[in-house]
Amino acid sequence: MKTDSRFLETEAAARVSVQLDGQTLSLPEGANLAAALLAAGVQPLRHNPVSGAPRMPYCLMGACFECLVQVDGVSLRACTLQVEEGLSIVRLRPREAEHDAA
Ligand code: FES
Repeated sequence: MKTDSRFLETEAAARVSVQLDGQTLSLPEGANLAAALLAAGVQPLRHNPVSGAPRMPYCLMGACFECLVQVDGVSLRACTLQVEEGLSIVRLRPREAEHDAA
């Protein structure tokens, strides 16, 4: 199964540093956060709270919650955010995602 990202950057955007689970990533400033994480090859973005199955962004318009991550300590949909310098992103583990879905 191919796992390379199909998201390609078409213009040169300034890059900024963000933290993902404690690791530094360089992402295009102002890009949609979910799309930028997909383009960077980040997978999975979270896990299903019941089964623990890996999940990825699906709708990219704020409807499905498949892109739920913690940003600076708050659970948010990555597809509703823009990349900014210094974001601290944590992927939700199964128990944390279950708590946020309630
Ligand atoms: S991808 Fe569906 S809400 Fe973000």
